[in-house]
Amino acid sequence: MNGKRTPLDLVRAEPGPAYTATFDGAQIAVLPGQTVAAALWSAGVTAWRTTRGTGEPRGVFCGIGVCFDCLVTVNGRPNQRACLIRAEPGDDIRTQHGTGHDETGEGEGR
Ligand code: FES
Repeated sequence: MNGKRTPLDLVRAEPGPAYTATFDGAQIAVLPGQTVAAALWSAGVTAWRTTRGTGEPRGVFCGIGVCFDCLVTVNGRPNQRACLIRAEPGDDIRTQHGTGHDETGEGEGR
């Protein structure tokens, strides 16, 4: 082995062709079936949310939909768990700040 094995190699996965989504306006490649979190990780992004108050960076913690650390805004909808939702072609994935409602005009603290 050359040390360059990927998770896809390890499970002998043969996904279909990649399609494109965007993260904060930059194009990222998404393999069919990838969650938003997996697509972001594949693109080298490990944090896509900041906490209320202190603005600490967050990404995946549990990876199974329990901790809610991975919240992200997808197609204008805040508070989507990136570890659970599938990335679809053309998705507009955005960093979520605080509760994510600033971007929707609903205000913080809800
Ligand atoms: S990483 Fe815990 S809910 Fe997504």
